Amino acid sequence: MNGECIQKDDGNKLLAKILESDCLVFVTPVYYFGMSAQLKTVLDRFYARNMMIQRRHLKVIYIAAVWNDDSTVMSALDMHFNILTTYLNFNEIGRIMARGAGYPSMIRQSYLKMAYDLGKNLK
Ligand SMILES: Cc1cc2nc3c(=O)[nH]c(=O)nc-3n(C[C@H](O)[C@H](O)[C@H](O)COP(=O)(O)O)c2cc1C
Repeated sequence: MNGECIQKDDGNKLLAKILESDCLVFVTPVYYFGMSAQLKTVLDRFYARNMMIQRRHLKVIYIAAVWNDDSTVMSALDMHFNILTTYLNFNEIGRIMARGAGYPSMIRQSYLKMAYDLGKNLK
């Protein structure tokens, strides 16, 4: 924690990039009510630079897509994103939780418009 990561791989280059970024966009399919293992693995690498990340107050956007369309399917992931924002001092500027979005033709236009508008309004 708060030092050079013990893992000597490309994760360190990624951390360096994150620390010089203005905005991070976390994108994931929903797997068993949470983020994908791939995204979680990236996130876990943040631990080596926890305090530096907290001090940056990085802008963050969260985007998730899930097959089901019931109102609770995103609740666990919503909570996870909320607590990450608080803990890592993120400045959250957008969140798209696309339900009923198992494959491209299922995705509602409203979600696509939200993504378009978010990108367009990035400064
Ligand atoms: C391992 C796995 C777990 C999944 N878990 C859920 C789930 O909990 N709820 C749900 O509605 N859909 C679930 N799905 C469906 C995915 O959310 C949905 O199909 C997603 O768009 C898949 O994205 P991908 O094709 O990029 O993997 C799951 C799919 C996989 C492969």
